[in-house]
Amino acid sequence: MNEAQLINRALQAVMNRYSGEDPHRPAWHLSPQTGLMNDPNGLIQFQGEWHLFYQWNPLACAHGAKYWGHWRSTDLLDWRHEPLALVPSEEYESHGCYSGSAVDDEGKLTLLYTGNVKYAQGRTAWQCLATVDERGEVTKQGPVVSLPQGYTGHVRDPKVWRHQDSWYMVLGAQNLNEQGKVLLYRGDSLQEWQLLGEIAGSQLNGLGEFGYMWECPDLFALGDRDVLIVCPQGLPAQERKWLNTHQSGYFIGDLDYQAARFPHGEFHELDHGFEFYAPQTTLSDDGRRILFGWMGVPDKDEFLQPTIAQGWIHTLTCPRELTLEQGKLRQRPARELQQLRQHPEQYQGAASSLPVLSVGQAELALHATGCWSVCFGETLTLSGDETGLTLTRPSLRSGEPEHRYWSGSVSHLRILCDRSSIEIFINDGEGVMSARYFPQAEPMAVWQGEARLSLDYWQLRPCMVV
Ligand code: FRU
Repeated sequence: MNEAQLINRALQAVMNRYSGEDPHRPAWHLSPQTGLMNDPNGLIQFQGEWHLFYQWNPLACAHGAKYWGHWRSTDLLDWRHEPLALVPSEEYESHGCYSGSAVDDEGKLTLLYTGNVKYAQGRTAWQCLATVDERGEVTKQGPVVSLPQGYTGHVRDPKVWRHQDSWYMVLGAQNLNEQGKVLLYRGDSLQEWQLLGEIAGSQLNGLGEFGYMWECPDLFALGDRDVLIVCPQGLPAQERKWLNTHQSGYFIGDLDYQAARFPHGEFHELDHGFEFYAPQTTLSDDGRRILFGWMGVPDKDEFLQPTIAQGWIHTLTCPRELTLEQGKLRQRPARELQQLRQHPEQYQGAASSLPVLSVGQAELALHATGCWSVCFGETLTLSGDETGLTLTRPSLRSGEPEHRYWSGSVSHLRILCDRSSIEIFINDGEGVMSARYFPQAEPMAVWQGEARLSLDYWQLRPCMVV
């Protein structure tokens, strides 16, 4: 299909979008108007305003030839739709304008993304450039990096940044032995790139076999170290970790730009819940490292989610602030989100004595020790004891309970609820658990246990996408 046809199809899909009762539609998280959304892309604060692009298939609740949608915001809370950013109309992106990032190139908002191409014998990938004008109109500049030798067609997801007088880019890749890798490139301009080498991956930096493909790398300085966020595919599930189909985690290390080496420590999961993948970060004007993730995971039960009946699937996480404290990454809800709080209430007492609370759009701040549990919307149960937290819900496939765990001593939780999602921030950002769930009615929280809890509760105002 040519560009006009692709745009026409998307327009028709949006005009036909479901407009009836939609109890699972988030009130303050970002979700697609219709169709499937996955990774956040091109997150940047540019000339004071936030831009957030996203992988979007407007034509179906399925993966496929992705478009880039585009939202803009002045405050990280309320967003407005910008013109469709990218549609997969060119030969070098025929099977999707895949994930990428945005940079400020001397005052020009510039996108780098992957042109995904499939053909009968396999696939290839081009890293492509595009510029965005003040009105949000995008002009494609075409490919700037072709497939490097020694890799399969799975080379994608450029994350670009400026360091001293050069541009740098990391790409997720798979080598010919089907090992996941991260490649580092350097460029004097955004048009001309030189491959410096593999800086991390399976069989590198002391890792053994560590997955057949690494997606969505993001490398940035935090505190006095560097952090590599990446999504390795193919890590075998362990007893209480790596339980999702694909993992999203980070390594702390120090990038040697000269030698193109990144010696690093262990892999840590970024989120211990059921749905989290393909996050992307940016540096805000006030120096904060802000992250959005996709509240979904590909390749397993995603297509059993009931919102498909309403013609859409998936949401993003809330924006989060990252810090490095005592050598560990912490994630806290972006401070802007406190502006959503309304009607504060406070409760104290044995867990089982707390009132049933509406958690359709709510924030709970909880001090808890001992054994307690809370069930959201008769569907998702969070229980705490001295060993940590367990999150349990019925599998969408079998109805059998499935679990996710966070191990450690829990003193404090902040829980953000939005219709069909929950994000649990543990001990002031030491851990996070994110999950979607699909309650039958307006979700209520019901408490159990003898542990003494103290609870601050707020309702959260909706955010607008206008
Ligand atoms: C991660 C991912 C990326 C790819 C995009 C395609 O979810 O598979 O590697 O660019 O999604 O939509």
